[in-house]
Amino acid sequence: MKIFLDTADLRSIQQWASTGILSGVTTNPTLLYKAGGDPAKTVREIAAVLPDGDISVEVTESDTEKIYTQAHAIAKLSPNITVKIPCHVDYYAVIQRLLGEGIAINCTLVFSVPQALAMCTLGVTYISPFIGRLDDNKQDGMALVRDLRLMIDTYGFTTQLLAASIRSVEHMTASILAGADVATVPVNVLEKAVAHPLTDRGMQQFLEDWHKLGVKTFP
Ligand code: E4P
Repeated sequence: MKIFLDTADLRSIQQWASTGILSGVTTNPTLLYKAGGDPAKTVREIAAVLPDGDISVEVTESDTEKIYTQAHAIAKLSPNITVKIPCHVDYYAVIQRLLGEGIAINCTLVFSVPQALAMCTLGVTYISPFIGRLDDNKQDGMALVRDLRLMIDTYGFTTQLLAASIRSVEHMTASILAGADVATVPVNVLEKAVAHPLTDRGMQQFLEDWHKLGVKTFP
């Protein structure tokens, strides 16, 4: 399973890119608003930090012809960009058209199995079920990720399952175990997910015991 960072904060992306565990980044209009500045510049900078990674950037238009034009313009910002388009029936035709022209699409705001089936039928690159927002709505977000894994495997679709709206370490862990192809994880969750108090305690203890030995150089 690939790890994407769910942020438009360039410094965090640079920091996590240097660890070697990041395969991409997902942004959305809210995250670009929080990052501030010129969003096109930010997107180009993010894409340059992870030249081999996959960077999702969402359309901000509603009219389908404008979405079509904007999707091409977004894709031109960098070769490693995937265009995010909301999972709405009004956009199926434009998604199909863009896919036919070689634009990679991350279908976002997916909340049900039939929505996901429609997008897999079109052959989008990623579907993004929103776990946290389903939980907010008193539904089981993780159950949808498990169901979509089953659906994709049952019918042999090529679309990748991207677990999104991850709000906790439990969401990330469950996404890994559910067989998601990608989990896009906010910085605060990733920090917690890769840490463990027993790792910290063990490191401290090993160092303390080593220093008791009084050896100056080793080996
Ligand atoms: C990622 O593609 C989504 O934009 C993001 O995960 C949404 O997360 P949220 O529901 O916490 O805003």
